[in-house]
Amino acid sequence: MALVKRAVALLTAMTLMLELIHAAVYKVGDSAGWTTSGTVDYKQWSATKTFQVGDVIIFEYNAQFHNVMRVTHAMYRACNTSAPLATYTTGNDSITIKTRRHHFFFCGVPGHCQIGQKVDINVLQSDQMAQTPSSVPSTPVPSAKVPGSSISNAFSLKSPFGSIGLTVLAMFLINLEALLC
Ligand SMILES: *[C@@H]1O[C@H](CO)[C@@H](O)[C@H](O)[C@H]1NC(C)=O
Ligand SMILES: *[C@@H]1O[C@H](CO)[C@@H](O)[C@H](O)[C@H]1NC(C)=O
Repeated sequence: MALVKRAVALLTAMTLMLELIHAAVYKVGDSAGWTTSGTVDYKQWSATKTFQVGDVIIFEYNAQFHNVMRVTHAMYRACNTSAPLATYTTGNDSITIKTRRHHFFFCGVPGHCQIGQKVDINVLQSDQMAQTPSSVPSTPVPSAKVPGSSISNAFSLKSPFGSIGLTVLAMFLINLEALLC
């Protein structure tokens, strides 16, 4: 029983470590940024990414012509700009993903959402690492608290935790081996 508890604790630690190691910065549309130029298929862009809690999403655009609104699924589907959950207008907005679910964004300038300036950031809930109930409270990531400075935090978290994470992984595998033998 003690061994199982220990394995579960290790697994929980591993989950948190992996989330921190994997924290990444994504610029929506890559080099094209957030635009209506027609060169970016945001659905395709998003479909090729595996987003994780702690990741930072950057919207870069000309603030004279575009903006960013976070909306509900219903608003996203209907391109309904009347009551956004949040609006960003700096032209260089970084948003830290804090929860496992869909995060819907579009440009609130009339007509832009309709022609495809909308993106669904889907942080998978079915991630197998998240299945242990004990890992549920482990989602808060220090970098998530200060959206403005989150990019540097996301990067700085990576390196110190990287090597520790590998050590923990090694320890975990050794323990697992001991459990199975
Ligand atoms: C847009 O959303 C608002 C608030 O949810 C709602 O009251 C309104 O009916 C919606 N408009 C359309 C055209 O769906
Ligand atoms: C946007 O902000 C990031 C840091 O927050 C910075 O590295 C990048 O150069 C900025 N881009 C522009 C176009 O200002």
